[in-house]
Amino acid sequence: RRLASAHTIDDLRTIARRRTPRAVFDYVDGGAEQEISMARARRAFDDLEFHPRVLRDVKEVDTSTTVLDGPSALPLVFAPTGFTRMMNHEGEVAVARAAARAGIPYTLSTMGTTDMEEVRAAAPSARHWFQLYLWKDRAAGEQLIGRASAAGYEALMLTVDTPIGGARMRDVRNGLTIPPTLTAKSFAGMVIHPAWWISVLTTEPLEFAALSTFSGTVEELIGRMFDPTVTVDDLDWLRDEWPRKLVVKGIQSVEDARMVVEHGADAIVLSNHGGRQLDRAPTPLELLPRVVDEVGDRCEVLIDTGVRTGADLVAARALGATAAMVGRPYLYGLMAAGEPGVDRTLEILRVEYERTLRLLGLPSTAAIGREQASLRSR
Ligand code: FNR
Repeated sequence: RRLASAHTIDDLRTIARRRTPRAVFDYVDGGAEQEISMARARRAFDDLEFHPRVLRDVKEVDTSTTVLDGPSALPLVFAPTGFTRMMNHEGEVAVARAAARAGIPYTLSTMGTTDMEEVRAAAPSARHWFQLYLWKDRAAGEQLIGRASAAGYEALMLTVDTPIGGARMRDVRNGLTIPPTLTAKSFAGMVIHPAWWISVLTTEPLEFAALSTFSGTVEELIGRMFDPTVTVDDLDWLRDEWPRKLVVKGIQSVEDARMVVEHGADAIVLSNHGGRQLDRAPTPLELLPRVVDEVGDRCEVLIDTGVRTGADLVAARALGATAAMVGRPYLYGLMAAGEPGVDRTLEILRVEYERTLRLLGLPSTAAIGREQASLRSR
């Protein structure tokens, strides 16, 4: 019933905002500093122009594709996001189950709030990927890799754009802490959103992968845990440790794309972390064609940041990406209505994707080519 008015991802965002305490909604919705990276990433998708063809039979469309040598119902992957049980108590398990039902891969974050074994067991038919941050405590990192291997995760995704935390000004202003605590500031949020507080704070404590007792801001958490000395030597080490698929997320230049491919990456994700790290970072969609020209024959190129519609997925694919990832869109669904909300996110994107293919005169994902879209010069 709550989802009756949700016809687009923006509609889900509106419902999510109503249903969730402000500090939590802003943690998801916000970006770093002046939020310029975030706005530009979105604008690039808006500014893209499609080139349709007419008089083609588009009664049947096949949306499926192959990502990291496995099947996916759409050129879409769920990006890793931290603290998912803070958005809704159903958390990572709900997201993984919805991804499994829709037939797309899900990437669990190192900062996840559900054990990776539990997520895997809750959605046995899903394609499970694990996102890795390298920590100052290398033994803890190694342990995570061992667990991911034992639990049957098919890919590791090393995120490389977070040597330190970005300055998320909304979080600073809201006084957000992990886990959320009741302060004079957050008290107002509790009064307005009692259901959220009761469900999130009375279920199991918000613990994540290896660090069970932390309390502070996200920036403090990253400063305490994340290793800012990571280099390509660590990528070489990881390549030796992990024989399955290795993805590097957070690539923002042609040079770095080439570098990590030479060091063994099977795929890269062009991403500025949803605009949550460096502000005024390169816009992934604009970088995409050049990166694909440089390394597209040696690795898969994925993209994220700012994808909000099925048409955006077509756009990413047309400019050469294997698939696009989304973060906020499924979190909006989760905050709006739990697991059915994530199902709705996927349904919206699928319907929009199919419609765009038909209107472009294309019978399948495989038929999308560079001739179908171009970036309008500004
Ligand atoms: C993220 N992102 C992220 N990335 C990562 O590698 N590890 C993580 O733990 C997180 N955590 C996280 C939390 C939240 C609330 C958000 C919104 C994002 C970044 C994420 O994987 C992805 O790059 C962006 O979300 C993509 O942009 P959109 O789709 O949100 O615009």
